[in-house]
Amino acid sequence: MADLSVSFLGLKLRNPIILGSSGLSSTKEGVKKAIDAGAGAVVLKSLFEEQLRAELAPVAGTADAHPEAEAFLAGMGMNEGTNEYLDLIRDAKKSSDVPIIASVNGAGDSFWAEFASRIATAGADALELNLGHVPTDPSANAAAIEDRLVALVTAVAKSVRIPICAKVGSSYTNVGNLGARLAKAGARGLTLFNRFYRMDVDLDAMSLSAGPMRSSPEAYHESLRWISILEGRVGAELCASGGVYDGLTALRLIAVGASATQMCSVVYAKGYGAITAAVGEIEAWMDARKVARISDLRGRLARRNSGAPELYGRLQYVKALTGQG
Ligand SMILES: Cc1cc2nc3c(=O)[nH]c(=O)nc-3n(C[C@H](O)[C@H](O)[C@H](O)COP(=O)(O)O)c2cc1C
Repeated sequence: MADLSVSFLGLKLRNPIILGSSGLSSTKEGVKKAIDAGAGAVVLKSLFEEQLRAELAPVAGTADAHPEAEAFLAGMGMNEGTNEYLDLIRDAKKSSDVPIIASVNGAGDSFWAEFASRIATAGADALELNLGHVPTDPSANAAAIEDRLVALVTAVAKSVRIPICAKVGSSYTNVGNLGARLAKAGARGLTLFNRFYRMDVDLDAMSLSAGPMRSSPEAYHESLRWISILEGRVGAELCASGGVYDGLTALRLIAVGASATQMCSVVYAKGYGAITAAVGEIEAWMDARKVARISDLRGRLARRNSGAPELYGRLQYVKALTGQG
């Protein structure tokens, strides 16, 4: 029988399917369901910078308030305080040996460093830094924005011994450059990519409204491209997030170099059994092809192992690649 175990962030996972950070992992019951369903690891919901700032300076309307984020949090039922978060880590750790990865969201400077050490003390096996930031000021300079992210990872890495994974969005001029800088700053892993809250417009109410909450299965192509390009080249292990709806998609992402893959939207859509189904598909595929270990597959189609690296930079549909013109 195939060995599905993988190593990610220096942790041994029984398989490469991780429950991604979301409301699904915001309670001990949700975490337990994911573990019972067979998840290789669980990323807890993010504790948002706004939550921590609100506790430290409970003044309404401060310059740091982010109304969109607050609305998002309220909609997700994610307004618990920081002590509850630390309890969630402790409870999750009590229930099994499956690695528990805490998550914090922020794009500030060293704001998280102190709290990160409390997360480590509570027993989290690793910390995912959810580096979400929407630069609403057109004059904000790209280099300065990225410098802040690097400074944040540097500060957190100095304050904790547990491994850190930086979760970023895909909208950077050169994700690889930013990823390499984050790795040098102390991120052992990169999660590619975050999916941010989508906005929409309600024409009847003439107001902003929430866009679709879930990703679609096609979303994985973005992670697949970048993981294939960056595997072995930025000094970090890579974790896929976005559009992983089944085990075969997870295998594709592993083939291009992912160490592990996260699932979120499909679990919202189909329940925690989607994790069990994906693990079963991976096992069946490996058994049918006599692939003994995940490491026998990982990175086989990564750019650095390819005789045709130019294929990885293609942007246009060309006959040579698609066979369709
Ligand atoms: C309802 C919902 C809540 C989410 N909350 C968080 C969060 O707190 N922190 C985070 O890093 N990502 C969060 N995400 C993003 C997911 O972890 C994941 O990166 C994204 O949804 C893409 O994966 P998917 O296609 O499997 O959903 C959330 C996603 C959804 C749908």
